[in-house]
Amino acid sequence: MKIAVYPGSFDPITLGHMDIIRRSAKVFDKLVVAVLCNVEKKGLFPIEERVAMISKLVEKYDNIEVVSFQGLLVDFMKTVDAQIIVKGLRVGLDFDYELQMSHMNRKLSDDRVETILMMASTEYSYISSSSVREILHFKGDIRSFVPEEIIQDVLKKSETMEG
Ligand code: COA
Repeated sequence: MKIAVYPGSFDPITLGHMDIIRRSAKVFDKLVVAVLCNVEKKGLFPIEERVAMISKLVEKYDNIEVVSFQGLLVDFMKTVDAQIIVKGLRVGLDFDYELQMSHMNRKLSDDRVETILMMASTEYSYISSSSVREILHFKGDIRSFVPEEIIQDVLKKSETMEG
């Protein structure tokens, strides 16, 4: 069984991430969406809310699981018996970073883990979570960037956080 992990911060999840999730779930037998719980970086949305939002979006897929993880990605991957990392490539700039991470993760895992890069669909290639956070901060319209099903959750949370 080919189990792939799609790791990220997902703070919050965007239409761009969903594009990669939907397409990867067709390529692999099982996809684990792994939300990084970074103790040094608080983020806008607490981890359990990021997991809940993504879970809501993928509930119709029976081969997608959503979990949070801490520490090294390759160590987490052992716990779910996965050997493939999926990452999305939006623009050329992403490539250099992903190339380095891919080599790092392969070395760290003694050649056990391979990274597969999936080209982001052009209509989402400019979206990032940090731009969504910035739009939220200035009370702009996020509807073109965030999946419709979670817009209310995102708006509600950002309102309470801004006080
Ligand atoms: N659509 C929309 N946005 C995308 C995207 C896509 N297809 N692909 C990437 N992005 C965005 C992300 O949301 C993120 O946006 P932001 O910086 O505005 O928040 C940005 O592009 C960078 O993405 P990525 O490189 O995937 O970073 P990340 O923070 O989401 O995830 C981990 C990084 C979790 C994969 C990585 O830090 C990790 O594996 N950490 C664990 C520790 C470890 O093992 N390190 C490796 C050893 S050195």
